[in-house]
Order: sequence, then structure tokens, then C-alpha cells
Amino acid sequence: MKVVLGVSGGIAAYKACELLRLFTESGHQVRVVPTREALRFVGEPTWAALSGNPVATDVWDDVHEVPHVRIGQTADLVVVAPATADLLAKAAHGLAGDLLTNTLLTARCPVVFAPAMHTEMWQHPATRANVATLRERGSLVIDPAVGRLTGADTGPGRLPDPTEIFRICLRVLRGRSLDLAGQKVVVSAGGTREALDPVRFIGNRSSGLQGYALARTAAARGAEVTLIAANVALPDPAGATVVRVESTAELREAVLAASGHADVVVMAAAVADFRPAARHDAKIKKTDGEPEPIHLTKNPDILAELGERRRAAVPGTSPKVIVGFAAETHDVLANGQAKLARKGCDLLVVNEVGEHLAFGTPDNAATVLVAGGEPIEVPRGPKEDVADAVWDAVAARLS
Ligand SMILES: Cc1cc2nc3c(=O)[nH]c(=O)nc-3n(C[C@H](O)[C@H](O)[C@H](O)COP(=O)(O)O)c2cc1C
Repeated sequence: MKVVLGVSGGIAAYKACELLRLFTESGHQVRVVPTREALRFVGEPTWAALSGNPVATDVWDDVHEVPHVRIGQTADLVVVAPATADLLAKAAHGLAGDLLTNTLLTARCPVVFAPAMHTEMWQHPATRANVATLRERGSLVIDPAVGRLTGADTGPGRLPDPTEIFRICLRVLRGRSLDLAGQKVVVSAGGTREALDPVRFIGNRSSGLQGYALARTAAARGAEVTLIAANVALPDPAGATVVRVESTAELREAVLAASGHADVVVMAAAVADFRPAARHDAKIKKTDGEPEPIHLTKNPDILAELGERRRAAVPGTSPKVIVGFAAETHDVLANGQAKLARKGCDLLVVNEVGEHLAFGTPDNAATVLVAGGEPIEVPRGPKEDVADAVWDAVAARLS
């Protein structure tokens, strides 16, 4: 596959070297097209040596090969990483002052932009309008990550991890459409922890891999994703805004806040049903006698609450599609059907869990139960396959 890697003049240009390697090492032909300003950050020899291809920035090199038209016309994918505010503006307005902007105008393949800039630049109405224009025209603009920016600043504007940008590009190259474009989705992932004392907690084995796959695939399908992560040690999926929580109470607060303006809520996190009735302020000490029993109290049922709020038309909580997950160790389908009916959600993803099943493994098998519809079987495969099956069912319901 022929990939054009556009690089514009942001401090994150050095991270595009890693993206380039990921493409070349997986057998892609990559033509790097940096802007003149990008070369101030990473020089031409680096791009030429890493890609094995010539590198040009303006339209006046090798004119006999008409590169200003050919490079875009023959590409299977154009990805611009990092995309500066300036480049986004030029692309949105159809300017064609250099080789990269000419390539963007001549490309008829999918185009992915991975913006990176200071938060103020990203949030400026001019940039917002340019991003909206590019998205309307069918480009995938990946929301930047939140984190440390140049200097001491932090906020949204950071280039997502190159591995995550690469994963999105591979999906686009495989022909996945942007069928969730314009949809606001909330995904919860991981497992909640309920504190016993300042150092101990009651938790579960959820790794967050399934929830992260859901967030990653939704972003790659064009959705605006808020990922509420409970105790997950994985890199942030590209394009998702990540909110970190620990306990069920924190997860509930974050989900209810985010679902106020969401079209879809997917509750993939393993939420503790119970928590210790009392949290000790100091570490519980070992004693000679028998330890004190731990008394438990019920946690709120967030999935049921979302369903109830929607039924009662509580202002600010009306996602069109609510998806629950059920991890079962026995009577998997019967328990799943009962849960779907009880919780008032639209879809329920049921999977069998056990010591070497589902938790912490890269693959999964599941049945997607559909309220008022036929169940969808998803055979064992990567967790991204389960995620895609869920989004297929969500997209069908949204339409
Ligand atoms: C040190 C430094 C870092 C910069 N980082 C960024 C950045 O991350 N994102 C951005 O949009 N602009 C950034 N700029 C500003 C761009 O380099 C400037 O807008 C330039 O004209 C972009 O040119 P290009 O879009 O043709 O590559 C930076 C400038 C400097 C001097």
C-alpha cells in the first residue's frame, strides 16, 4: 500500500519518525512530504533515510514527474502527523502553496489528520471551524491527546502516541468507513477499586483492553469519544478524551456528567457491585487474634440508572443508545437476557469470563444481545472485532 506521510512544522514532528518506521516495517511504501517549516524540526536526510524515498517540500523538484499531482493521485492513504493549525487552515481552504497542500487537493484516497498544537490554538474558533470543515468533507481528524505540551503547559493538543495513530491508519487502509462521524460516545473501561484503607482495596481482574478497543475503534470510525478509565495501565487510544477514575462513585459521577451530551454510552467497565461499608482512615493493622470481618454495602447500579433516567426523560441524560456488558461465569446467555430486560439498555454484550477467558487477554468472544432483535454472535478474535460488532449494532440502531 502506498502511504503519504505529510509532516508539518510542529514540535511533535520527531514523533512522525516512529510513525514512519511503523509503516515501513509493516511493508508499506511511504513517501514523506514535509512542509518547509517541518524541516526546521527534523531534517530531510532523516525522512529520506527512514523512508527509502526521495523527499521534497515544494512543487519545483522533479517537475517532469509532476509530483504535485502524482503523489496524491497514486496514494492509498494520506496521513498528516503532526498537522499544525496552519496546515489545517490551508487544507480547509484549499490552498496549494507547497507539495503537501497540492497532494491534499489531488488525493482521492482517505485522508487522516493528527493535529498537535497548543491548547489555545486547538480551541480557537478558527481552528474549530477548519476541523469541522475537514470532517464534513470526509477526512478523519483525530482529536489530540491531553497532556504535557511544549514548555510547562498541559492540556489538549498533544500528538497521540504514534502506535495509536498507526492503528487508526491501518483500519482506514482496510476500508473501514467513518459511520460514527458526528456521534458523541462515552465508553467506560477497566475495573473499579473500592478502598478498604489508604493502601488496600477490593478490585477485579479487568485490564481495560476491551473498553480501550471500543474507544479506539469508535474514534477510528469518526466518533467523538470520552473514555472513562478505571485503573487502566494502557496507552491512551488516539482520538479519545480520557477521564481517569478509581472507585464506582467516581465512575458514576464521570459517566453521568459525560452522558449529558452523549449519543451513545457503552458501559464496558467492570463495576464493583459492593464496597466496604467503612473505609478506614489509617492502615488496618495485623493483630494476633482473628481479623475483623469486612462488611459490604451495595454500590449504585450505573447502567440501570442510565436506563431509568432515559425512561424518566431526566434532562441532560438521554443517550439514544445504551450498551451494557455482562461478564458471566455460567448460564451466560440466560443471565445476559435477564440482565438486558432488567437494565433497560438497548444492547448487552455478554461474554464468558474466567481465569484465562476475557480478562487481560488480547482476544474475546461475545454475544451481542439486542433489545427486540436477534442476538449477534461474535466468534473468538481480537477485542477490536468485538468492538466493531458492537459499533455495527450501535450504528444500525442510530440509523
Ligand atoms: C518551537 C516551535 C514549535 C511549534 N510547534 C507548533 C505546534 O506544535 N503546532 C502548531 O500548529 N504550530 C507550531 N508552531 C508554529 C508553526 O511552526 C508555524 O505556524 C508554521 O508556520 C507552520 O508551518 P507549516 O504548517 O507549513 O508546517 C511552532 C513553532 C515553533 C517555533
